[in-house]
Amino acid sequence: MPKLKLGVLASGRGSNFQSIIDAIDRKTLKAEIALLITDNPDAAAIQRATKHHVEYLAIIPKEFNSRDAFYTKVAGELQKRGVGLVLLAGFMRIVGRPLIDAFPHRIMNIHPALLPAFPGLHGQKQAVEYGAKISGCTVHFVDEGMDTGPVIIQAAVPVYHFDTEETLSERILKLEHRIYPEAVRLFSEGRIEVEGRIVRIKEQSPSDQSVVNPRVRA
Ligand code: GRF
Repeated sequence: MPKLKLGVLASGRGSNFQSIIDAIDRKTLKAEIALLITDNPDAAAIQRATKHHVEYLAIIPKEFNSRDAFYTKVAGELQKRGVGLVLLAGFMRIVGRPLIDAFPHRIMNIHPALLPAFPGLHGQKQAVEYGAKISGCTVHFVDEGMDTGPVIIQAAVPVYHFDTEETLSERILKLEHRIYPEAVRLFSEGRIEVEGRIVRIKEQSPSDQSVVNPRVRA
């Protein structure tokens, strides 16, 4: 089976982008990153791409006449490289129709809260201020809404009364770096089915088990 090609969209630090790079390097994920696209020429994600020899493009929204024109360009660059799955990794924009139509159920995002709780910006701060006792992170497919697409995987952490946005973010980020590569791995193995809002994860066939998921052998 040819390797899944990934396209990553990031606006900043890129630690989730790094977690995908690391999973590929560790061979727990059979995929290759074909392209990083950033909307921010100062994004630290660019240094990560350079270090790991990943091609990158800075595509700047204000240089386009419309939002659709921007997303048409983004979709075109991804398609040109045969990308099969697009990953938003701290991409600070709502995705537009041209990109969603080009990659139906093939765009994932990671969000730092247990959706549908605390969507949008600063999910961790929202959880702390609300007084939630449990929060976490969510990998979901992307639709045109703000963090509204079908949920693929979630992981939970406790929220303590002494937590700040920073301490909770740190606890959640550790799990983000585990579940995002895991969701991509499931996709790469053809194990994700979507029906409406419901995502089903299919069992791994026994003959494949030793190849990419050493944990199932334990
Ligand atoms: C993460 O907290 C992610 O959940 C959210 O944006 C942040 C990006 O961090 N969507 P990084 O750029 O991947 O380090």
